[in-house]
Amino acid sequence: MRNKKAAITGGSRGIGRGIVRRLAREGYDISFTYSSRRGKVQAEALVEEITGQYPVKCFCHGAALNEKGTAEEFVREAYEELGGLDLLVCNAGQSLVHSIYEMDEQTIDFLINLDFRSYLMAAREAGRIMGENGIKGNIIFISSCRGLRAFPYDELYGGLKAGLIRSIQTFALDLAPYGIRANCVSPGPIRVRTSQEMREEGVCEQEIEDLDNLWKQLPLERMGTPEDVANAVAFLASDEAAYITGTNLVVDGAASLPGIPENRPKADEEFKTWCNFKRRW
Ligand SMILES: NC(=O)c1ccc[n+]([C@@H]2O[C@H](COP(=O)([O-])OP(=O)(O)OC[C@H]3O[C@@H](n4cnc5c(N)ncnc54)[C@H](OP(=O)(O)O)[C@@H]3O)[C@@H](O)[C@H]2O)c1
Repeated sequence: MRNKKAAITGGSRGIGRGIVRRLAREGYDISFTYSSRRGKVQAEALVEEITGQYPVKCFCHGAALNEKGTAEEFVREAYEELGGLDLLVCNAGQSLVHSIYEMDEQTIDFLINLDFRSYLMAAREAGRIMGENGIKGNIIFISSCRGLRAFPYDELYGGLKAGLIRSIQTFALDLAPYGIRANCVSPGPIRVRTSQEMREEGVCEQEIEDLDNLWKQLPLERMGTPEDVANAVAFLASDEAAYITGTNLVVDGAASLPGIPENRPKADEEFKTWCNFKRRW
């Protein structure tokens, strides 16, 4: 039987690597991207791992998806080398959560191009390829629960992620006549690196400590894993989700559900934070 074919952006590590592993287990031939020198090493190791473990093809490509033209080119390359395209997962991104008052325009443009534009262009190309070739495929955007609720300092990142959730709905409508489905997965806090890995990447101790303790603030009282997100992707791409399109599957352990606490905690209650505020003026 023919293997299904998947193109995944940002598969070299984190959530993307979880998605690559899960889809390989499902029997997909895979083409995925990385962008950095470190990513190349991780991507090549992943290709070796996947092809050693499963009877599938797996390729990786360097792609700076913040640069115009790169996302479309990757989708075309993946289609050619895999000999088909049943699934596109747009995942590559950077979670830059900084106040817009402290970001330069270059960073703002970079994030718009990477976290939003590249998704739209890749999906447009995949929709065209699937439509022209009569493939009843799937397109999945990895958004974020920050696209649903306002968190501190995410005017840009949260806004772009909200845009993806909205945009996928119209992809779903436009592509429905071709039998192509388009959905979003919105992760909450996902632990993608160990404390040691973060230390090696130069992340400061306070940030590491905050992340180590974040699980205590989450309703399900644990951080999510790349596998949690990959399971949602595998489900949405499967025939079991054949009647689901234009939806947003939130995988956040209920992180985005709570409203603002209205009363001070009583002596036997625990305080949960909801805002960081810095007075600038
Ligand atoms: N982790 C979370 O808690 C969380 C929560 C909600 C949503 N998300 C979303 O999930 C997605 C994956 O996040 P993650 O935490 O798994 O991130 P990650 O571990 O840092 O991995 C990001 C991936 O994107 C690639 N990438 C980064 N910059 C790129 C660029 N300029 N051009 C092309 N590719 C680039 C990376 O490749 P290199 O390593 O080679 O640079 C890597 O493969 C993102 O869209 C993120 O916004 C994450």
